[in-house]
Amino acid sequence: MNVAYPAAQFDSDIAAIAGFADLLRTGFENPEGIVGTILFSIPEYPDQRFIVRCTDELLIERDDLERATDTQVIIPVATIHRIFNEFKVLDWRDPAIIGTITFTGNLALANHLAKSCIRPSNWTMARFRKAARIHAAKGYRHLTEVDYLHQPTQRQILEVMEESRPVIVTGLEPTPPCEDWSIDRLADCYRDAVVRVRSATQRQTMAEFVAELKAFEANPYDEMIEGFVKPYTEGANLPEEMFDNFGPLFFDPEDFAPPQLWLGSVPTHIPTSSLHRDPLTGFLQQVIGRKRLELYSADQAELLYPMKSYNNYQPCWFKPDAPNYEIFPKAQVANSLSVTLNPGELLVQPAGWFHQVYAVDSPNMSVSYFWRY
Ligand SMILES: [Fe+2]
Repeated sequence: MNVAYPAAQFDSDIAAIAGFADLLRTGFENPEGIVGTILFSIPEYPDQRFIVRCTDELLIERDDLERATDTQVIIPVATIHRIFNEFKVLDWRDPAIIGTITFTGNLALANHLAKSCIRPSNWTMARFRKAARIHAAKGYRHLTEVDYLHQPTQRQILEVMEESRPVIVTGLEPTPPCEDWSIDRLADCYRDAVVRVRSATQRQTMAEFVAELKAFEANPYDEMIEGFVKPYTEGANLPEEMFDNFGPLFFDPEDFAPPQLWLGSVPTHIPTSSLHRDPLTGFLQQVIGRKRLELYSADQAELLYPMKSYNNYQPCWFKPDAPNYEIFPKAQVANSLSVTLNPGELLVQPAGWFHQVYAVDSPNMSVSYFWRY
């Protein structure tokens, strides 16, 4: 399934706008049958606006542009060019992108379409193919228990990655992370570390975040209102102050992408990360509370309905926590390996394994980092 889009050089803005519509159309999938219309306006080129209609496929309509649509998107031409330059790495959370676009009306529709713009690199697709080959040859879909390694050497970790086999590492103590961490201890040790940046003017320190977290834990999810932001850091960059205790293990820090912090109050019955896979080997270090992961081998991709448009990670249409076997019948025969991670344990998850993550306890804290190679 090669859906990589040719990296066209769009000399003119007009060609870029036409190419953008084509990118949306060719990346679109709609297994859940979402319907609706979206008007895309480009402020610099009012007469180049167009309407997309979500059906089984995406229809681009350029007539009758005055009619009402469910969603309206205003996107500057510079952002359209940027999408073309970056679609293999594009991150919609990047304020330099999302901050330039105006949305009104049904935002779920815009969200659905945003996925259509991204594409995997050939390198990423090759990683997934290689993982699928190894997993099929080793019969990983039938694994029922994860292996444990106590205080492994770097060489053992390399062997695990070579075999593309997930393992849980134990014996990291007495060096933290350990059972002794709590949100109070975090607030004491890292009072002024910035853990969450929400905008140019809104940044939250550990002390402020923990105070918000404690207030929330006293009354969790009682008053869910629109625009509510749950007290969860959602993979924010790990503050440098925390590297000594929670920074990457086994290899040099430069061998890893910047570590991410997953700290906060999270519902335990819905996934903290929905089913997806990553093209790099992930290290997940558990610090506070437990996490549970459902792992699916890469050779089961066809059973999990992975999205064809993705770049840094590949989400699936199928949701194991709310399975719809009428739309996704093949998922009935998918096998998962269930893994529970306790505080002080670290999961090494080689590239290509599909995973869905749940917090078993709240509050919860993990640190994750990807090996670059
Ligand atoms: Fe992941």
